[in-house]
Amino acid sequence: MELKIMNLTKQFADLTAVDHISLTMTEGVYGLLGVNGAGKTTLMRMLCTLLTPTEGKITFNGKDIFLMDGDYRKILGYLPQEFGFYPEFTVNDYLLYIASLKGIRPAVAKKRVRELTVKTGLSKVSGRKMKKLSGGMKRRAGIAQAMLNNPKILILDEPTAGLDPNERIRFRNLISELSEDRLVLLSTHIVSDVEYIANDILLMKDGGILHRGTAADLIQSMPETVWRCFVEKSKVSSFMKKYKVSNIRSEPYGAQLRIISGEKPLPDAVEEEASLEDVFLYYFGEKAGENDAAI
Ligand SMILES: Nc1ncnc2c1ncn2[C@@H]1O[C@H](COP(=O)(O)OP(=O)(O)O)[C@@H](O)[C@H]1O
Ligand SMILES: [Mg+2]
Repeated sequence: MELKIMNLTKQFADLTAVDHISLTMTEGVYGLLGVNGAGKTTLMRMLCTLLTPTEGKITFNGKDIFLMDGDYRKILGYLPQEFGFYPEFTVNDYLLYIASLKGIRPAVAKKRVRELTVKTGLSKVSGRKMKKLSGGMKRRAGIAQAMLNNPKILILDEPTAGLDPNERIRFRNLISELSEDRLVLLSTHIVSDVEYIANDILLMKDGGILHRGTAADLIQSMPETVWRCFVEKSKVSSFMKKYKVSNIRSEPYGAQLRIISGEKPLPDAVEEEASLEDVFLYYFGEKAGENDAAI
């Protein structure tokens, strides 16, 4: 299986949301990592044929996905960033309803819904109304609906938004389970969501793919060094302005700072091993998932 993106561009008036991206993907889990506004959703919507590119092409096994049309959508599963879920429907009815929209025969749909509610850990709540589900359960129902047609390509847009730490772990395990023989592309602005489950991480910024590779590759790609040093209280704010600080831990007379810099910030600074969080800060100039419970 090969999903190939060539020179893909999407222009909204004078804004280039996706800027000449070329990329080839096969089976595996891909993590599209970038801050809000990077162009992740726009790219995904084009991959789902919901948006037409301004320029460029997407092919599946050599065929243009827009020409494949229904044949392509048959092998595609998509969880939108904001997914509409019929609040009064039970989980079971919701999934059966989506299955009917997808043209899955009732007998097949029933079996598939049963399998998927088990797989996503929703069988105990399958009779519960959608509006009564926790955030994590709703997302899992969203993933289940995307999986109804047993898609070869599964696209999940910010599937971990609003999940608590336990739900995030559960989600990671679920994705690993679902990824066999499939291409899974998920977007997030939280490093820890992709660090362990994506074989391939795509760093997206300003409509382009800055870097692509494993977590180790991306760490290698960072040209600067991570340092740990103690900074006196009076100097902390000037250090914060001068350097990219990926972590700060207060101490009685100052703070331990984790600094990303090409040169040693202080004579007694100690070199530290870089993490993917550091890489994110280096490329994006801001910390990953500031307001989310990143673990
Ligand atoms: N339908 C649209 N019309 C105009 N601008 C859009 C539209 N959709 C997205 N954008 C803009 O494109 C950029 C990328 O958005 P988006 O793809 O949603 O990024 P992300 O998913 O990474 O947060 C943003 O600046 C956003 O405001
Ligand atoms: Mg988005």
